[in-house]
Amino acid sequence: NEIKVFCPATIANISCGFDVLGLALGSVGDEMVIRKTELPGIVITRITGQDLPLEAQKNVAGVAGLAMLESLNYQGGFELEIHKKIKAGSGIGSSAASASGVVWGINQLLGEPCTEEQLVRFAMEGEKLASGTPHADNVAPAIYGGITLVRSSDPLDVVRIHCPSELYASVVHPHIEIKTADSRKILRTSISLADGIRQWGNLGALIAGFYKEDYALISRSLEDHIIEPIRSILIPGFDEIKQQALAAGALGCGISGSGPSIFSLSKGEETAQNAARAMSDVLSKLDLEHDAYVSGINTEGIKLITGKGVSP
Ligand code: HSE
Repeated sequence: NEIKVFCPATIANISCGFDVLGLALGSVGDEMVIRKTELPGIVITRITGQDLPLEAQKNVAGVAGLAMLESLNYQGGFELEIHKKIKAGSGIGSSAASASGVVWGINQLLGEPCTEEQLVRFAMEGEKLASGTPHADNVAPAIYGGITLVRSSDPLDVVRIHCPSELYASVVHPHIEIKTADSRKILRTSISLADGIRQWGNLGALIAGFYKEDYALISRSLEDHIIEPIRSILIPGFDEIKQQALAAGALGCGISGSGPSIFSLSKGEETAQNAARAMSDVLSKLDLEHDAYVSGINTEGIKLITGKGVSP
């Protein structure tokens, strides 16, 4: 009746796939304990690592869990303990980890009544609370694992994308806060046809590059001429960080989700380590406190750490 799960951090957008592409990280993520109780609803008993609301209706995990219970017309309830390792507002899917972890865990404890697609839909309710928009490009890779493409969010249509075996991500998180809702407000609501053509050329080629494990094609396609020029203004040192990551051998570099984290993708772990160091050095020179991570791609998504789900 109690399980502990690992909820991965995620990189949304991956440069040219604004609001549609995302990938899950292997070594960075939250932990969550989910306990079945008689009391109806969701009760959050403890949150460590971050100062976040305990009240279920104000917490992304609470809202996602409640959406699931309501849809299932479930009369009992669940207690949650959330151990945040991903900082809120960092741009690597902190709210998505909480929202998807809870619904995945409840599904296990109830004998898997829901499909992964339904879980994404419930988790999107949590995302809506966090950013004002129910985007699925973080919750989909968290739940499915690997790389995912949200072809459509209404009706929901999530496509799993092949993940090249030697792909590694490097992430630096400068300790400044950028709220997703704010960094969405500064975006233009229309784009030119010329920009559209460039972006979907890159997006199509990036997906082809993932399938073919063609790292040169992946590298050529990791571009974003629409969102990055606007959002990067909010991130000190962005252009220099990008330049240094590429000089260190990364395939490409861009803003992770809505920032402020910056990611780069590399072929092989050693190059990813070099890229992370190069990116981190720029932030150190700017005297900007930051974290840096290197991670493989998590192809499993959310994982059980302890406890056992109920067999369907
Ligand atoms: N696609 C979303 C955005 C992700 O860039 O606003 C937020 O993490």
